Amino acid sequence: MIMSNFLRNRKSVREFKNRIVEPRILEDVQESIRALKDEYSLDNMDFRLYENGKNLYSSLEGKGGYAGVMIESPHYIIMELADKKEDTILYGAYYMEKLITKLNDMGLSTCWVSVSNIDENLKKEVFGEHIVHVDYVLAFGYEKLRNPFTTETFSERIGVKDMVFDGEIGRVSNLDDLDNKGLLDIFHYVRFAPSTKNLQPWRFLIKDNKIQLLLSYKEWNEGLLTDAGIIMYYFEELAKYQGIKSQWRIVDIVECKTEDNCYRYVAEYEL
Ligand SMILES: Cc1cc2nc3c(=O)[nH]c(=O)nc-3n(C[C@H](O)[C@H](O)[C@H](O)COP(=O)(O)O)c2cc1C
Repeated sequence: MIMSNFLRNRKSVREFKNRIVEPRILEDVQESIRALKDEYSLDNMDFRLYENGKNLYSSLEGKGGYAGVMIESPHYIIMELADKKEDTILYGAYYMEKLITKLNDMGLSTCWVSVSNIDENLKKEVFGEHIVHVDYVLAFGYEKLRNPFTTETFSERIGVKDMVFDGEIGRVSNLDDLDNKGLLDIFHYVRFAPSTKNLQPWRFLIKDNKIQLLLSYKEWNEGLLTDAGIIMYYFEELAKYQGIKSQWRIVDIVECKTEDNCYRYVAEYEL
């Protein structure tokens, strides 16, 4: 599917049909995980299919998810990172989102679920004695049909003008300039990427021939890097459609504080 259409319709699904996914499709999910790991030599991360979602849900009910609201689904994918280096966190999220795109193509719906606050002993009990870092699982299955008479919930997004800076932090970009550079559509659609609690911490700074990815925050937390990895993935995919085939390069982190806000430089993209 064209990435812009995919993003426009992409949403987190939190209510799943009480129906398992056919074994043939679960095998395709396994195969997608294998192919992803092989193609990109991902040896510092693992994505593991957890078939018996009922078990996982009953162990994490009241503990996983925002404020203990665990998402119930027939199956999950566990994302395990071998270390907490910044690029491992960024690319863990990047490749998880790539996998999500594949699951969507298979007709499956998904929701990221945060499990970072769960006690480590319980994590070992549920995910396996030898796990290293598991902060997220992906709930997946078939979306429960909604009542056609209720209005569809939609998560608001910030405007391109609030997200893209021109030359320096805070200077609003001119949308015509972005359009002339072939960037307006990319920024328009990339806003539909998911983020933790829909906080949308991403900011882009266009300077010289580069786009810098910044994270805007009041209090730093590692989860922000997960949100950054997700948008890096979508940005690259959308840029490919515009014929721009560069890749993000992780940059040495610089912090720049204004009075009530900090910005952290995460990666840069050569135009
Ligand atoms: C890293 C990450 C963690 C998330 N954790 C949870 C979670 O624990 N529980 C939940 O209900 N939604 C979770 N979400 C879903 C976000 O709340 C959702 O993406 C955001 O509100 C935007 O909504 P949308 O995905 O429907 O566009 C998570 C999303 C991301 C990217």
